[in-house]
Amino acid sequence: MHNVEQLVAAATAEFAGINDAAQLEQAKARYLGKSGSLTELLKSLGQMPAEERRSAGASINRAKEQIETLLSARRETIKRAALENQLDVSALDITLPGRGRGCGGLHPTVRTLERIEQLFRSIGFEVADGPEIEADWYNFTALNTPENHPARSMHDTFYLENTPGVLLRTHTSPVQIRYMQEHVVQYGHLEHMPEIRIIAPGRVYRVDSDATHSPMFHQVEGLWVGENVSFADLKGVVADFLRRFFESDDLKVRFRPSFFPFTEPSAEIDVAFMSGALEGRWLEIAGCGMVHPKVLRNGGIDPDKYTGFAFGMGPDRLTMLRYGIDDLRLFFDGDLRFLSQFN
Ligand code: DAH
Repeated sequence: MHNVEQLVAAATAEFAGINDAAQLEQAKARYLGKSGSLTELLKSLGQMPAEERRSAGASINRAKEQIETLLSARRETIKRAALENQLDVSALDITLPGRGRGCGGLHPTVRTLERIEQLFRSIGFEVADGPEIEADWYNFTALNTPENHPARSMHDTFYLENTPGVLLRTHTSPVQIRYMQEHVVQYGHLEHMPEIRIIAPGRVYRVDSDATHSPMFHQVEGLWVGENVSFADLKGVVADFLRRFFESDDLKVRFRPSFFPFTEPSAEIDVAFMSGALEGRWLEIAGCGMVHPKVLRNGGIDPDKYTGFAFGMGPDRLTMLRYGIDDLRLFFDGDLRFLSQFN
């Protein structure tokens, strides 16, 4: 039957040109669907003379089988092509050259801390540290900071929930007490205890946040305790350190009377550069003083026999001055455009 052969030929050609599963199903409907061409042929059998009907029916059924075979072959082909395509797209080309390995660099804060450590080591200081989660006693009480002192308010300090008496240290000064206690355990029995000469760099925390304050920042504590340590030693050590840190003799250092509970007398240390963008401006960079007798005693040291000086400086501030940075938050953003300038 002419019509039937034409239909099979048309289906063969049409299916071969289809590469999409949904389109193939639509094409199938045009032949085998409710009003598909083959279905229409089947329906027309009824009008045929009985003698023709038998052979026509048989050839229509054969055509139907052929079309179904064609269909499932094409379905397979399309499915395999889609799979191969997907594998191609997600393939790893292991022969591609690498993208290069940038070598990292030190954060400006770390650079400053390392520089400070190196300078103090060169004059016989050791580097000490203490916990960032600190007991109220070390952070405040032992440092002669009374119960009602404003620094102890919830407003300024991060206290640990459900753990009374524990907080994030607000300064590195508690390391003074911890170090003195350990020192006394080791050397307290000696007639002449060796001197304590330490710096304690580290992170500290306060409820504070703007262009020049961050809830986490850095401090470097200094402590020198011995038999005849004086304020003159403090001035010499700090002034010498600052000249070496900024690599300049062209700066002035000023000790301005101040108050801290843990020192007596106490001072703020200001520095002024004699040239450059900040020329002539006094900038506060540290607090300092002679260690208060009560603080020495809390560290286990006899204030009648020993004296000491202490200071606490802001290395973030020193970094900003040294590199001319005006926003403290840049240190914590992790922006490579900023960070890569230091390496
Ligand atoms: N701990 C003080 C603060 O955070 C800084 C300080 C001042 C430390 C005087 C000292 C010192 O050791 O003697 O503000």
